[in-house]
Amino acid sequence: MTRHHIALIPGDGIGAEVLPPAQQVLDAVGARHGIDFTYATYDWSCERYLREGAMMPADGLGQLRDKDAILLGAVGYPGVPDHVSLWGLLIPIRRGFRQYVNLRPIRVFEGVDSPLRAAAPGGVDGGVEFVVVRENVEGEYSEIGGRLNRGTPEELAVQEAVFTRAGVTRVLDFAFGLAARRGGTLTSATKSNGIVHTLPFWDELVAERAAVHPGVAWDQEHIDALAAKFVLDPARFDVVVASNLFGDILSDLAAAVAGSIGIAPAANLNPERDFPSMFEPVHGSAPDIAGQGIANPLGAIWSAAMMLDHLGHPEAAKDVTDAIAAVLAKTDVRTPDLGGGATTSEFTGKLLDLL
Ligand code: NAD
Ligand code: IPM
Ligand code: MN
Repeated sequence: MTRHHIALIPGDGIGAEVLPPAQQVLDAVGARHGIDFTYATYDWSCERYLREGAMMPADGLGQLRDKDAILLGAVGYPGVPDHVSLWGLLIPIRRGFRQYVNLRPIRVFEGVDSPLRAAAPGGVDGGVEFVVVRENVEGEYSEIGGRLNRGTPEELAVQEAVFTRAGVTRVLDFAFGLAARRGGTLTSATKSNGIVHTLPFWDELVAERAAVHPGVAWDQEHIDALAAKFVLDPARFDVVVASNLFGDILSDLAAAVAGSIGIAPAANLNPERDFPSMFEPVHGSAPDIAGQGIANPLGAIWSAAMMLDHLGHPEAAKDVTDAIAAVLAKTDVRTPDLGGGATTSEFTGKLLDLL
């Protein structure tokens, strides 16, 4: 029996609605594969912020430090400014635990209607199955900058982006390594035609790392053209590496191309494993549907599968992704974002039956 101690941070809105399904799936698949999960649940959220003035306690990272992994729902809720909730919890965890890779797979599943006519299911010829490798701790997400002359006609805001040789190199090496393992190609998202310092530097480093990984075919695309190609020809992509902001935008776009942002998972990886990694759906707390019990749990469940893989249980992870594929291909039970009428718990129950 293998044991894993997991930190659960349900968070706000539908974050707290999709995490229990992920936990149910973990327990079910764990029982079959001889994996014993124990959990520590944290109420860190906007609700806590309104009550106690902070999203998490001062030693929050210290409390997570000894866990094998972190599973998070989502944070952010009306009434608390987004920069407060995110810079008070999500971003400190990603940075503090050096989770510099944000791995976001995309797959068109059989049985899910992509809004694109041409998008065939992943796994068949011409099918859509790729992964966005998002730089997760630097780049455009920075606290450097400021605002001047508030409320005057001369008001201005300045926001700096920080790209370091070490930070870009390590995420590029991860992406090239992943492309090599998949036997695929790498596409780098850039904007070196419009942004004159950071992205030309990014491009130079891509060329440098490509020379170190000569077996991987690669190219680069400007982010504007790349966004269009995600829609026009998503099947051509395999590994797409992008800066923090570009990767954020591309991963929601890719999720929508694959049928719903409710399906898409993310792994915030600390590849050196000197800190816990964090797994969370790509989507947010969705205040517009929170409290109705209709959130799609698949993004959280697929994130739990990525956690299983990271913890050394690829067969258990595959059982979970196979169950996701089966519930979509073999049944018409699904949540409203996928055109169905099922609740979160009905959809989860059907998936558990097939697991
Ligand atoms: P969102 O992802 O919460 O919602 C965007 C749209 O997608 C909404 O219409 C929502 O109903 C729908 N949607 C998202 N997940 C779904 C699911 N599982 N099932 C069905 N429909 C789903 O993005 P937003 O509206 O930009 O952000 C809402 C809040 O969440 C903000 O406070 C934002 O900062 C926060 N947020 C947090 C995270 C995180 O914690 N990782 C990620 C993204 C956004
Ligand atoms: C995500 C989210 C976060 C991000 C926000 C909420 C700060 O959109 O995880 O994709 O941009 O990283
Ligand atoms: Mn996002």
